[in-house]
Amino acid sequence: MASQERIVSVLDIGSTRIKVLIASAVGESLDSILGVGTAPCSSLKRGVVVDMEGLTQAIQRARDEAERMSSYTVSSVLVNVGGTHITGLVNRGLVTISRPGREIQRDDVDRVWESARAVLLGPNQEIIHVIPRQYIVDGQEGIKDPLRMSGIRLEFEAFIVTGQATILDNLRRSVTESGLKVERLVVEGLASADAVLSSEEKEIGVACVDIGGDTTDLAIFAGGSLGYVAALPIGGRHITMDLAMMLKTSLNVAEELKIAYGAVDADEAKDFQDSQISYSTASGDGVLSTTKAYISEVVSSRVEEIAEAVKLELVHSGYNNMLPAGLVLTGGTALAARISEKFSQISGLRTRVGQPNIDDVVFSSFRSPSFSTAIGLLELSIHGESSASQKRRRPFRGLSGLFKGLDLFD
Ligand SMILES: Nc1ncnc2c1ncn2[C@@H]1O[C@H](COP(=O)(O)OP(=O)(O)OP(=O)(O)O)[C@@H](O)[C@H]1O
Ligand SMILES: [Mg+2]
Repeated sequence: MASQERIVSVLDIGSTRIKVLIASAVGESLDSILGVGTAPCSSLKRGVVVDMEGLTQAIQRARDEAERMSSYTVSSVLVNVGGTHITGLVNRGLVTISRPGREIQRDDVDRVWESARAVLLGPNQEIIHVIPRQYIVDGQEGIKDPLRMSGIRLEFEAFIVTGQATILDNLRRSVTESGLKVERLVVEGLASADAVLSSEEKEIGVACVDIGGDTTDLAIFAGGSLGYVAALPIGGRHITMDLAMMLKTSLNVAEELKIAYGAVDADEAKDFQDSQISYSTASGDGVLSTTKAYISEVVSSRVEEIAEAVKLELVHSGYNNMLPAGLVLTGGTALAARISEKFSQISGLRTRVGQPNIDDVVFSSFRSPSFSTAIGLLELSIHGESSASQKRRRPFRGLSGLFKGLDLFD
């Protein structure tokens, strides 16, 4: 192993699947993915742990598989967290510089961070991220780094992401009991955004929409800064459940039919109107039939509902008219054929499907929206894991994604 090469590991806890990735990094770059392990998981509901024992076991299975493939042992991991308990707000801190010469020093920056962190938290709320938006020195906005500047009044504007403390504790405990150390929690929408958004998109205004199994995670950027996060309690699993109910079949069969024929396009569906398919009943002892067009119609109408819910949330966020770069859909459900057309029609915004940009030919399967969160976590781990335990990190110079030049961790 080259001397500057190091091994990093991440854990993506999804409501349908757990993913563990082990990778090597050289300097600030992901070198190659050495091991991957996945395990089905039904221990979360809407991003919240409902079965700690089940989750711990699923994590162990995914971890064992990744370790066997890579021949490395995982000890600590960056872990994602999702769910509707996650919220974010913009807050400002203020300090005055009273020393002679008024030169802003490191401890002034530390003090203003503390001041911005002082948001009124509910009794069961915990800060997950403090993400800088800008410094303001004597009213001058848009300052990236105030160190060594002269000023009297130093303000710091940050986006603060919080979650419910007990929910976060349960998640951490499930991971710890699987034998892994939680290096840091990262909100799912932010990890995915890091893997799929360009800095240009974040500059002009974009929303990353991660449509997973149980939740749809939203992260909105404008002017290069994070402006809004939210999670909606709806995702691909709801499409499967609806299909299973309509077709009177099992969830497994419905999942297969959804993936095989669930193109989100009514016109395309007409082309195979008469195309009949047979499938087994819920009990498995009978056979039923339907048309591919019908499956496509059911999937299409559920996707429409998700798109409508996202649109409502965009309006609620206040960013709806500030997104010239539109929507970037990711997460496993973004694999549904023609989903971007449907979202574009409903939202009135340009829409593309985003997937991680992975060069590794052997691991080309990671170039899939399903792996956005895991790859985003890897990127974040590579660019900041060494200082993750410090009170506050130095900026990630040279990172191509979301946190470029920002201190992600409080
Ligand atoms: N080709 C496909 N067409 C439609 N849906 C798909 C396709 N492939 C995967 N999916 C759906 O993607 C979903 C899983 O996505 P993902 O792996 O992003 O979820 P997760 O991370 O487990 O869940 P969450 O992020 O909500 O906790 C499942 O509902 C699955 O049915
Ligand atoms: Mg997910």
